[in-house]
Amino acid sequence: MAVAVAGLAAGALLVTGLAAEAGSASAAGSAGLKTLAEAKGRYFGTALTQSNLSVPALTAVAAAQFDMVTPGNEMKWDTTEPSNGSYNFAPGDQIVSYAQSIGAKVRGHNLVWHSQLPSWVSSLPTAQVQAAMEAHITTEATHYKGKVYSWDVVNEPFNEDGTLRQDAFYAAMGSGYIADALRTAHAADPGAKLYLNDYNIEGENAKSDAMYNLVSSLKAQGVPIDGVGLESHFILGQVPSTLQANMQRFAALGVNVAVTELDDRIQLPASSANLSQQASDYAAVVNACLTVTGCVGVSQWGVGDADSWIPGTFSGYGAATMYDNNYQPKPAYSAVVTALGGSTSSPSASASASASPSPSASATGSAGACKVADVVNAWNTGLTENITLTNTGSTTISGWSLGFTLPAGQTVTSAWNTTITPASGTVTGVNLSYNGTLAPGAATTIGFQATHTGNAAAPAAFTLNGRSCTAG
Ligand code: G3I
Repeated sequence: MAVAVAGLAAGALLVTGLAAEAGSASAAGSAGLKTLAEAKGRYFGTALTQSNLSVPALTAVAAAQFDMVTPGNEMKWDTTEPSNGSYNFAPGDQIVSYAQSIGAKVRGHNLVWHSQLPSWVSSLPTAQVQAAMEAHITTEATHYKGKVYSWDVVNEPFNEDGTLRQDAFYAAMGSGYIADALRTAHAADPGAKLYLNDYNIEGENAKSDAMYNLVSSLKAQGVPIDGVGLESHFILGQVPSTLQANMQRFAALGVNVAVTELDDRIQLPASSANLSQQASDYAAVVNACLTVTGCVGVSQWGVGDADSWIPGTFSGYGAATMYDNNYQPKPAYSAVVTALGGSTSSPSASASASASPSPSASATGSAGACKVADVVNAWNTGLTENITLTNTGSTTISGWSLGFTLPAGQTVTSAWNTTITPASGTVTGVNLSYNGTLAPGAATTIGFQATHTGNAAAPAAFTLNGRSCTAG
């Protein structure tokens, strides 16, 4: 784990602007999620909508962190063919151009879906639906030929019980519409990876069984299909325990899997314990993808909480992404970085991650039975700090108190995996019931959020049960 100092110089850098900061962090050799993911043979993506592109704080994060872009709405049928035979690719083109400008690929989303479907399609006589579907797929996939990595050819085809949705396509063609759509897309753009995408198919259940059986049957018939998209709109603490096994069984059919729309919604207001759980949830998803060879990447649905569809759809829920409303990284971001084999080492507002430890040290002192690695992510008025304590001694620590002095102007507003008192000055963090015992070599990570008035530096030294800890 890297050690970082967020000092005055870093604070000054932060107020110069998010876009410049993201660029300079990158130029300095720090890496974002995308670089860490690429080192593992994966991508890390986000959904973007047209309006997102004019938000500098958002695009600074997008450019630094993501190498795959999914248009949030711009390639859907209601946008691309609002009336029969009349096409509008301008919004989708804008997303593609932006993605290209930041060196990202594009997941085309989507060609056939019961939702965001213009009423002229569902009003067609059933005898005309197949021709309309094939024309739509051919025209759109041809327009974007060579510009998209993949297509969600059919989106959300299943009901929760594993039966197919009775939408306009099913009504006209029966279950065969799916094979027809895949074949049509393949003819238009043989280079694009062709996916079926759905939600609530992340764990093993009736719906994912149905998707499994469908993919198995399509493969047996020689229908072109390359992957299954697991949308992954999770509820806090409810990432299915069968996620990895489910990914693995699809991979065993000879298709890839991708986490296509990851978010993890929290009942508001989100507590620090909630954010800690969310970090575990995100890490579990990334770890599952890294473990399954056929999992090609993970995409989050929107850059930050401000861009998420969750509050508008699930009343009282939100805080579902890795970035808060101000595009500051949340604990889930650090957890993903760690899962990808990196470490958060820069107090960057766009939270670039580093694959190698930073040489700076924030905790000094004589050698003792403890080691402290401290990671600060700061913005102009606040910071989060994650502190990993390691027992470097030869005896088990049973109950601990971590002492340190907060720089002037810093006030703790919340803490996770510890209780910190008082809120400023010389403070003590005490273990909770579940992390008080540290066997030799064992480590635990605690953290806090604080406000600051210009000095976002890390504490200069730490003591554990009164003994100085080394930095590391
Ligand atoms: O463009 C109109 C605007 O003119 C109007 O004033 C406004 C009033 O409500 O609506 C705007 O359209 C909205 C559209 O997003 C564009 O912002 C629709 O109401 C709204 O329903 C639509 O929501 C999208 C949703 O799909 C539709 O099902 C979300 O942005 C989009 O994030 C979401 O994405 C889906 C994936 O495609 C498939 N998986 C689930 C995921 C989340 O729902």
